[in-house]
Amino acid sequence: MSPHAAFRARFLEVLASIYIYNEHRGYTSLDRVLEAVRARCPGEAGFIAAVEKHRADEYKHYLMFKRWFERQGRMPLKVDRTCGHIDRFIEGVFGCTIDELDTRTIAADGAQFEKLCRVILLTEQRGMRQVEILLRNPHIRSDPVMTRIFRIVEKDEPDHWLPYHGWLTRQGRVTAKWRERWTDFWIHKSLMLAKLPAVFLNARSPRLERWPDEDAGAYAPAGQSNSRSNQLRSDLASSADRAGDGDGAKGAGFARRPVTASATTTRLGRTGR
Ligand SMILES: [Fe+2]
Ligand SMILES: [Fe+2]
Repeated sequence: MSPHAAFRARFLEVLASIYIYNEHRGYTSLDRVLEAVRARCPGEAGFIAAVEKHRADEYKHYLMFKRWFERQGRMPLKVDRTCGHIDRFIEGVFGCTIDELDTRTIAADGAQFEKLCRVILLTEQRGMRQVEILLRNPHIRSDPVMTRIFRIVEKDEPDHWLPYHGWLTRQGRVTAKWRERWTDFWIHKSLMLAKLPAVFLNARSPRLERWPDEDAGAYAPAGQSNSRSNQLRSDLASSADRAGDGDGAKGAGFARRPVTASATTTRLGRTGR
């Protein structure tokens, strides 16, 4: 493989690994957001439906990246939450991890709920701008499937921040505070200028051994995955039942293949590099 081809292949797999982490983090976190929205705004059917659609889209995006990896017979690189924009944003603004967010407290506290809406809004606006940039990248444009994925993501993105913007505007609230914009800016810069190159250059980056939609402990540090996966397996099953929404991805030409994470891992053996 020529150095240019090797660079391109590594760039695409690092990018797709970071994206699939963020898409998975997105749809699983939105389950918690939905709890808060239903509790805070029980009469706002339109807003609730928009957040449900947002959740369904992020799951669809996750599936598209999953199938991109399946087509290559490889598992994604096992990145951690330092590669997650929403993880770092929540930690920066709320001072706790996503898993530690208390949904009930947020639903009961107007200021906290508005802050959560602003964090999602800014994260999604950032995502939309990033996709526009990526669609001009020659390495991405050289991969027709990756280009098709990002075109679908680009089309979906406005629906992911407009509902929160609309809700905040209807309440007469600000849609972003300067400190939150600053936090979003620095997270993005550190992801692009530090994290992405660090993952790219780390030739010993481990790969996932299981798909996170099949095992909620897939991203857990080694040694913690079993207990975490047992704890979260039932939550995951109920989320998957609720979702029932892979149709968008299928309709976009990403028909599900009967390849499971375990099958992929078995075929490749231990996939860590
Ligand atoms: Fe997405
Ligand atoms: Fe999104």
